[in-house]
Formats: sequence, C-alpha cells, structure tokens
Amino acid sequence: MNDLSPTHFQQREYSAAAKAFLARTPQLFINNEWVNSSADATIPVEDPSSGKEIGRVVDASDKDVDRAVSAARVAFDDGRWSGLPPIQRDRTMNRLADLLEANADLFAELEAIDNGKPKGMAAAVDVPAAASQIRFMAGWASKVNGEVIQPYTMPTGAVFGYTSREPVGVCAQIVPWNFPLLMACLKIAPALAAGCTIVLKPAEQTSLTTLLLADMVAQAGFPAGVVNIITGNGHTAGDRMVKHPDVDKVAFTGSTEIGKLINRNATDTLKHVTLELGGKSPVVIMPDVDVAEVAPGAAGAIFFNSGQVCVAGSRLFAHSSIFDKVIEGVAATGPFWGPRPSLDPEGHMGPLVSKEQFDKVMGYIEAGKRDGASVAMGGDAPATDGYYVNPTILVDVNPQMSVVREEIFGPVVVAQRFDDLDEVAKAANDTCYGLGAGVWTRDVATMHKLASKIKAGTVWGNCHGVIDTALPFGGYKESGVGREQGRNGIEAYLETKTVIIQM
Ligand code: NAI
Ligand code: MG
Repeated sequence: MNDLSPTHFQQREYSAAAKAFLARTPQLFINNEWVNSSADATIPVEDPSSGKEIGRVVDASDKDVDRAVSAARVAFDDGRWSGLPPIQRDRTMNRLADLLEANADLFAELEAIDNGKPKGMAAAVDVPAAASQIRFMAGWASKVNGEVIQPYTMPTGAVFGYTSREPVGVCAQIVPWNFPLLMACLKIAPALAAGCTIVLKPAEQTSLTTLLLADMVAQAGFPAGVVNIITGNGHTAGDRMVKHPDVDKVAFTGSTEIGKLINRNATDTLKHVTLELGGKSPVVIMPDVDVAEVAPGAAGAIFFNSGQVCVAGSRLFAHSSIFDKVIEGVAATGPFWGPRPSLDPEGHMGPLVSKEQFDKVMGYIEAGKRDGASVAMGGDAPATDGYYVNPTILVDVNPQMSVVREEIFGPVVVAQRFDDLDEVAKAANDTCYGLGAGVWTRDVATMHKLASKIKAGTVWGNCHGVIDTALPFGGYKESGVGREQGRNGIEAYLETKTVIIQM
C-alpha cells in the first residue's frame, strides 16, 4: 500500500445519468409529487471519495414535515392503501422491486458516489438485497390473519371471540447512511405490506438513492400519500417526525445514542417504536479451524463497507494457540481491502462516509495507541483528499480501552487472545451491545454452546454478517428494541384487535 500512483485516490468520472440526477432541483416527494420546500434551506451532497460537494438536497423545515405527515395521515385514514385487496398491494410492491432491478446500475452508482462504498459492492449487495426485502414482504400482505379463539372461562358457543390484524397507521421511518437504499427498503417493505403509510427520511449524508426510489414509487402505482420521502437533518426534521402527534409508529436505525433519545421523545405520544442500533460484535475463532480459510472471513467481517456496519466483527477473539497465525492471516488481506475511490472497478473498500466519521475513527485509533495498543496493520490515513482510512488491526488491547468498549464504525478491529470457551463467552458478552456475533469452529457442540451463551440477536457460524430478509434481525441489550425481517418484521407494523360477541 506504499507505492501507489499519484492518481490512485482520484475519483472516476460520473455517468451521464448520475450527472443528470445530481443536477436536479432539490425537492421533496409528498403525495406522489415533487414539491418545493416551504423554506429554502439545503444540505450539501458530498462525494467522500473526493471530499467535494457535488449537489444539494432539501433540508426539510417543520412545515415540510407536517405536510408529509398530513399526506400520510389522509392516505391512511381513507383506506386507499390498507383497503386494497392484498393481491394489489403485493403486485404494487413487486412492481417497485422490478423498477429497482431495472435501474440497478444507476442505484449502485449513486450509492457509491454518495456513501463511498465500491460500486461493485453496491451492485452485488445493496441493490439486490433492497429488492428482495420488498419482494419477500409483498407476500405477507396476503398472509397476515387473525384467529378464532375459544374463551377460557366461558362455555363453548357462549361468545364468539376472534382477533384481526390491522396496520398500525402512519409510520415515521428514519434510516442511516451506511446502507441507504437497503435500509430504506427494509423499512418501507413491512410497513407497506401491513397497509401502513409512510414518511421516510434518509440520513443527511446519503439522500440520493432514496430520492431515486421516490421516482420508482410514483411509477410503481402506489396511491398518493402512501410513501412520502423527505430529506433533512436529524435533530430538526427527524425530531419533528418522532414527536408528531399524527405519527403512530417510529422505526429507526442508527446510533444507540440517538435511538435512546428517539425512544424518550416518542414516549409523550406513546408511539410504537422499533430500534436497530449499534454494536461491538465479537468474532470468536476456536483452535480447531484452518486459519488460512478463516482469516479472510474474519477480515471481511470488519473491513466490508469500511467497517461501517452495525454488525461489524470489531472484536476479534482468537485462541492463544493460533493467535499469531490469525493476525498474520488477517493482515495478509490488507492489500485486498486497501481503500480506493468508490467508482474504481478494482476497489473492495472505499473511504468513510464523511469528514465527521473519518475524524471519529482516526480519533479512536489515536486513543488506542495512547492507551497502549500496538498497531499490527494500518492505523493511518493514506490520502490527502477524501476520507480514506487503511484497514487497521490493533493488538495488545485490554477491556478497559475505548477501542475495545465503544463502537468505532470504521475499518478497525481489536484482537484479543483466549484459552477456553467459558472465558471467551464471558469476554464476548462484556459489552453493552448485543447485535451480532461470529463463531468459527468445526466442532458442532462448541458451535451450539457458544451460540447459546453469547447474548446477541444473531449468531453466525463459520460466516459473518449474512443477512436474509426471511430471518429476523435485531439486537439484545443496547443494540435495539424489536426485530425486523421475517414474520417478526411485519408483526412490528400490525395492531391486534380482539372482538368478543355475545351469542
Ligand atoms: P445518527 O444516529 O445520528 O443518525 C442516524 C439517523 O438518525 C439519520 O437519519 C439522522 O438524520 C437521524 N437523527 C439524528 N438525530 C436525530 C434526532 N434527534 N431525532 C430523529 N432523528 C435523528 O448517526 P450518525 O450521527 O450519522 O453516526 C454516529 C454514529 O452512529 C456512527 O459513528 C456509528 O457509530 C453509529 N451508527 C450506527 C449505525 C447502525 O447501523 N447501527 C448507522 C449509522 C451510524
Ligand atoms: Mg448524529
């Protein structure tokens, strides 16, 4: 990574389609129309591969938020979406997925330009995963039903008791910048299947693909007001959404700090809340593995998406007998993960999303060094423009260090040794988080023992970060409230109504 050409970190030219998209007038998507903001505040759009401003999006005002919520409220209350035959909701959602796939290349490019992730990764992961979230949930539109229940204290036939499932109502959905399109689709899919209406806000750093999604919403044939998309800052527009009396549910993915604040702010109006928050996920490597096979997996667990992943395998625990070999094996992947501009077709890892995130990650690396950690790889920023951080391994760490305790959200892994299973289970659980965990072993009993001991919403065996729309996803402890995806995902958008009729 030392003898790079002078143009190595130079971003490639954008396609004509991307340039045209960036040249659009900043607007909001309300009631299936592009509308101007009531104010004229905007937020810069930045390409983290160059650090340059490349466009602007609206910074929604309180009035804009109110307008979007009111559109969603009217669309919910008159039943124009929830009242449709489920087959029509299913078909409309599948048309949206078709449009995503038909425009996959532009989605992938805009995601790469806006977030910094390699376009190839966006095309291989983000866009198809976004489409499958929508397709899977579309099927639930026709499959959520109540049940007829025999009362416990009454004779058979005395009353007729049953439940029905109804959509919770208007949903405020707030998503982060690490997987912008995927997070947006993961949020809207279950809400739409349930019959809810939506005000969706992307993160202020990454609005582009969510705005392109708005075009597809209109084309797919959703009734006006079902999906409203506003861009803007979290502490203003996001805050207004969370506190709005006409909103019935808040779904949030982002930092634990803001998740707690949102939970408090949603309390006055007792909204339903689901939260998918931060993590400090352990990766445990048992001594029976083939290190040459496993080390690239451990590297991918932390360096994929520049470590900006809620389930990033940021704490590596390798058995003492293989520790040095594991570190060597992870370090050997350094050139593969060396950061490149997002439109470089050779790239596997891009820059971090923003200057703020870059400063945060570099600050943690410095703090780790001050606290006595040693750098086994990386630890530095290789370019003057753009927010590139080299893949980094810290060793000689202890559980008191901030690099071990706190979510860094960058390509930085802290590696520790262990000697037995109970010890590593305890160490893995020594965190306020509980989102994901990876266990690498060939021994089935060890796998199940650790899967049961580790307090995390998802435990991966011999892989890491594998997510599928059919499988529930969410956090223990301070990693969140509720589950998304699978049957749990749609349940979170449904009320249960009990009806008891005296016969
Ligand atoms: P954040 O939690 O502040 O932002 C996430 C979303 O929440 C954005 O759409 C933002 O506009 C919105 N938001 C912010 N404040 C709000 C408020 N008061 N009310 C309503 N909405 C609000 O995350 P940020 O500041 O971008 O990143 C900080 C750290 O959070 C990262 O370094 C990382 O550690 C963590 N993070 C975790 C993510 C995850 O997937 N679990 C995703 C993004 C960040
Ligand atoms: Mg923030």
